[in-house]
Amino acid sequence: MRDLIIAIDGYSSTGKSTLAKLLAAKLGYIHIDSGAMYRAITLFAIQNRMIKGDTVDEKALIEGLKSVDIHFEINPENGQNEIFLNGKDVEKEIREMEVSSKVSLIAKIPEVRNHAVALQRKLGRKKRIVMDGRDIGTTVFPNADLKLFLNTSAEIRAQRRYLELLKTEHPATYEEVLENITERDQMDSNRKVSPLRKADDAIEVNNGNLSPAETLEKILEIIREKFSDDTGTQ
Ligand code: CDP
Repeated sequence: MRDLIIAIDGYSSTGKSTLAKLLAAKLGYIHIDSGAMYRAITLFAIQNRMIKGDTVDEKALIEGLKSVDIHFEINPENGQNEIFLNGKDVEKEIREMEVSSKVSLIAKIPEVRNHAVALQRKLGRKKRIVMDGRDIGTTVFPNADLKLFLNTSAEIRAQRRYLELLKTEHPATYEEVLENITERDQMDSNRKVSPLRKADDAIEVNNGNLSPAETLEKILEIIREKFSDDTGTQ
């Protein structure tokens, strides 16, 4: 059976992580949420007062990165791979709007990206991984076995994220969420290093009208077609 690297990229809140989680569980692979790494580094910068408005103290952050430990651990209660920042599970905290509103500022700093990409490649060394993000198929794993690019309208994406945040301690309004995802898409697509774009050989999937289970089914079909001889997913 051939082991795969599966890259899932796309705009904010297109359901990349949801799909990546379901797909990894189905295939018995590890899911790595690369966005969680940029969010954890952003949380670190916020906690250490390295961000003032839209200005980041890059020098302090780059120096600080040397003492930052970011790793993932499977939570035995839900089977999810959760992110730890310096020994603390920050899986929930990094999804709050305070982090969302700053993360694209942090993710465009080249040294931050180098740091995160090195970690991501290390985690992919043994294959059997589903990684989601913005530049996985273009920069992190340009030779990934399967590249997917998810897309949906900004309104549908905002509605999904709004409903998700409603269940947390710090909800936001629909308008705030829409503004945040539109702003991040813009910054992510226009930054100098590894901008968000579809890899030439990625398969684009519009999941606006599909539930998570339907999206998974569609992707499993693609996998069966492409790798039916060697993944054992039939
Ligand atoms: O969940 P959502 O799609 O809204 O975002 P995320 O995947 O958690 O990523 C948060 C932010 O991290 C993005 O808006 C990007 O600025 C950055 N990011 C990146 O630059 N490269 C990646 N591979 C993943 C995320």
